[in-house]
Amino acid sequence: MKLSRIVSNQPNISRKKANWLIATGQVHVNDLICRMADADVDEFAVVRVNGKTVQQGHCAHYIMLHKPAGYLSATEDDTHPTVLQLLPPALSQGLHIAGRLDRATTGLMILTNNGTWSRQLTLPGMGIAKVYRVTTAYPIGPDTALRFTEGIWFEYEQLTTAPATLELLAPTLARLTIYEGRYHQVKRMFHATGNRVIALHREGIGHLQLNSNLAEGSFRMLTGSEIEGLDRYYT
Ligand code: URA
Repeated sequence: MKLSRIVSNQPNISRKKANWLIATGQVHVNDLICRMADADVDEFAVVRVNGKTVQQGHCAHYIMLHKPAGYLSATEDDTHPTVLQLLPPALSQGLHIAGRLDRATTGLMILTNNGTWSRQLTLPGMGIAKVYRVTTAYPIGPDTALRFTEGIWFEYEQLTTAPATLELLAPTLARLTIYEGRYHQVKRMFHATGNRVIALHREGIGHLQLNSNLAEGSFRMLTGSEIEGLDRYYT
C-alpha cells in the first residue's frame, strides 16, 4: 500500500495532511524517515507518525520444509494430508507455498506469508534454477541430455521448454536443473523421451539448498542471508 494511504487511514489525518507529514520527515518506516508519499510499503513494515505506531507490521515467516512423499502441496484437502499440517498451527496461519511439488515428490519446499518475496522466487522468466534428483523406470537414453538442452515441445501450452541441464549419476538416476516451473514439468520431459519418472526429489531452488541434516517432515526458518539472497537475481 502507498505510504500516504497508510498514514491517511488514521482518523483525523486527511490525504493532504498525510502528504505533509511525510514530506516534512515526521513519518518513519522501519525506523527510517521516509519522505516519499507514494512509496510502496508492505504489511510487514512498522510505520510511525511522530513516534505513534500507525501500522504494527506483521511478522514475516520464511520456512524451509523437507517435504515427505504423500503430502499435498495445498493449504487444505479432505482426503490427503497437506504440507501445512507438518507445521505448528500457530505458524502455518497465512502461509503459502512458493513452488508446489507433486504429492509423491520429496525435498525442498519453501513456505512464507510474504507474497512479494515468494513471487520473486517463482516468477516464470526469472530463470531461477530448480534442481531435481530424478529416478527413472528405464535407463536414461544417450540423447536425453541434448534433447533437454534443446527444449521439449509441450503441446498443451504450445511452447518449448527452456534449456535444461542433465547430469547422469547412474543409468536410471540423474540430476536435472530446470529454469521454469511448469505443471509436472520433469515428468513430462522424461515422458517425451519414452521414459518414466518413478521418484523425484527437489534439492535446491536458486540459492536455497535443502540441508542434508533436515529430516523428512522437518522444517527450519530461513536465515537472514537466505531471505536477502533473492536480491542477487534482481540487481
Ligand atoms: N516436476 C514434476 O513433474 N513434479 C514435481 O513435483 C516437480 C517438478
